[in-house]
Amino acid sequence: MSDITMPNVAAIERSRHGSSIGQPVTRREGHLKVTGQAGYAADYNPPGLLHAVMAVSGISRGRVTHLDVAAAEAHPGVVKVMTPANAPKLAKSPDDKDHGFMFRMNVLQNDSVRFANQPIAVVIAETLEAATEGVALLRPRYAEEPARIGLDGSAAFALQAVGAGAPAKGGIGDIEAGLAEAATRFEATYETPAQYHNPLEPHATVAEWDGDKLVLHTPSQGLTMAQGRIAGLFGIDPANILIKSPFLGGGFGAKGLFSGPQVLGIMAARFVGRPVKLVLRREQMFGPVGHRGETRQTLRLGADSTGGLTALEHNTLTTTSFYDDFFEPAGTTSRHLYASPAIATSHEGVRADIGTPIFMRAPGEAPGSAALECAIDELAVKAGMDPLDFRLRNYAEIEPITGKPFSSKALRQCYAQGAARFGWASRPRAPRQMRDDDGLLVGWGVGTATFPAMIFPSEARAVLRVDGSARVEIGAQDMGQGAWTSLAQIAADGLGVDYDKLDLEIGSSALPTGGIAGGSAGTATAGSAIHHAAADVIKKLAALATSDERSPLFGAGNSGVVPRDGRLVRQDDESRGESYASILARAGLAEIDGKGSAGPNPSMQESYAMHSHGAVFAEVKVDPDFGQIRVTRLVGAFAAGRIINPRMVRSQYYGGMIWGVGFALHEHAAADPRSGRLMNANLAEYHVPVNADVPLIEAILVEEHDPHVNVLGLKGVGEIGITGTVGAIANAVWHATGVRARAFPITLDTLLERPGDI
Ligand code: MOS
Repeated sequence: MSDITMPNVAAIERSRHGSSIGQPVTRREGHLKVTGQAGYAADYNPPGLLHAVMAVSGISRGRVTHLDVAAAEAHPGVVKVMTPANAPKLAKSPDDKDHGFMFRMNVLQNDSVRFANQPIAVVIAETLEAATEGVALLRPRYAEEPARIGLDGSAAFALQAVGAGAPAKGGIGDIEAGLAEAATRFEATYETPAQYHNPLEPHATVAEWDGDKLVLHTPSQGLTMAQGRIAGLFGIDPANILIKSPFLGGGFGAKGLFSGPQVLGIMAARFVGRPVKLVLRREQMFGPVGHRGETRQTLRLGADSTGGLTALEHNTLTTTSFYDDFFEPAGTTSRHLYASPAIATSHEGVRADIGTPIFMRAPGEAPGSAALECAIDELAVKAGMDPLDFRLRNYAEIEPITGKPFSSKALRQCYAQGAARFGWASRPRAPRQMRDDDGLLVGWGVGTATFPAMIFPSEARAVLRVDGSARVEIGAQDMGQGAWTSLAQIAADGLGVDYDKLDLEIGSSALPTGGIAGGSAGTATAGSAIHHAAADVIKKLAALATSDERSPLFGAGNSGVVPRDGRLVRQDDESRGESYASILARAGLAEIDGKGSAGPNPSMQESYAMHSHGAVFAEVKVDPDFGQIRVTRLVGAFAAGRIINPRMVRSQYYGGMIWGVGFALHEHAAADPRSGRLMNANLAEYHVPVNADVPLIEAILVEEHDPHVNVLGLKGVGEIGITGTVGAIANAVWHATGVRARAFPITLDTLLERPGDI
């Protein structure tokens, strides 16, 4: 089904039973990537290909009144200009929602402008250069209306649901009573800015129509969802849509729900009747494909004389667009992280003339835990306690609101191992106590990391062949997180074959649905389905062997045999067994296949709270004259159940912690309040950490066994690294300087605006 074959990996360490699970196997597709053979969507150039470039709006609210289509179409090489006047009408409105888990889009169905950078036309040409020049010739005119921007740009309203449908309110007990009885009280408001996902690979589509059949090369974190969305919009059978997405250059949530620009690529191909490639320019990533909405979070906390929380209130105000309803679920972290007899969380929304926010790495938990971890730290200091001791004093043994036990929780070990490695015990309690040899102020801070353990519905197919090779098929997606590798490890382990002998196929909608590579649930989701598919094959094979008196396994019973290195062996005597090849050959079979599926388990969800946890320790150095902040050391200790591949998992933790550095010190999309346009929609001015900003990072993999969370006992690792890091850095900045920053990112002017403090 696919033209991609993975090279075998020459030698990998093996554990006792020949399984590669738990081994630091290197990236299965690494060789293809470093030799340029891994084809990303935009690398695909079918015969007859045309190039499309989007024209985007220079205003954030109003209507397009004129486009100089004639000038653009007169340019050499330009084939056609697609505008609301001539664009194909979709089978259903891009504003219609079959269900809440959908992203409204702006795809030239009318002339209205709902945010800056919204697509307003698409120029299709023989070359990229001609299409780009055609866009410049359109010279749009607008009827502009005043932009409503920011958290104060329109009236706030109460919300019912946030994120993917979590209740906007949640709590337990009486906040006012808890605050009244507290010996120490603390209240503060924290602000986090709009942030924009910027994977290295921008969204790209190469669309080819053949009648009502569509072949699409485009990066997607959720192939089945994308297929369904396209089918609805174009009024065609999902089975007529083939989406290929074998490699993604990052996604971070922006490629989770199908986006408007990807639809425009498909429309353009239909419009001109030829294959069309449409790739977003970097600045076009700032608007039509989602972002993290800004937040203003107010926390009120109280603690008794022993440091025990008596009240924890967390109210969030967050922006969304005027045409859709995604709200950053920032308060949810406060529902399960600390024990308190009174907890109250709520969310309000504000509409703005912006593109709709969407899931962005650790949606909710990233800004929510940033505010919570700063507030907890401030309360600890006010209560006269070490911030780590304070967190341990308020350790949640059960999930505080639901009363459910955790399926597993090794957070205490994370605190202990992280603190020991970091050297936390020698931290002076008061701020401004440490300087390095150059006179820089040094500060140490801690933050707790947490992220829910989820799983999505998925299916897989596994095949064993008489020649001893094996194959597993699943439409899972690898954004760079290592799915190619870890899923192959799970498959080889389940089938009991050499990792080298396994063909894995992922990244195509023609394969069984691989669920979603998101919510840090990709490995649990696809891995569980693979595990069950492999078990199904082994069961069938065992039935063949144990029922045949010529087999040494005859009479052992299906449950009495286990797979080991290409053989089935008796569980009670592993020296007695028969090879897969022999079993299949005798049965006259060239191959045998099995299917498996996985998904949420309602009874487990009913019984247990399921989260990954971690503790992050940060060291910063601050220039006492200029306020420049450098993170110089990060130690994160994380417990996320079973670790399939420690190399990939460490890499995820490093990436998460680097995102945390960006959140704490760099990322900030700045809108001009008059026009609503972003002033830094490029990677020169929208700052993300570069190598010089990334300190020595250590990730400790804390052992944790989870018998409940899913069949593989693994939890997510992709997003948790961000969550503790932001607070740890902010708290370290306070410890270095004595200044509490309550708005992110923390920049040197945050510190310099308070003369005398620095
Ligand atoms: Mo993620 S924000 O679920 O890609």
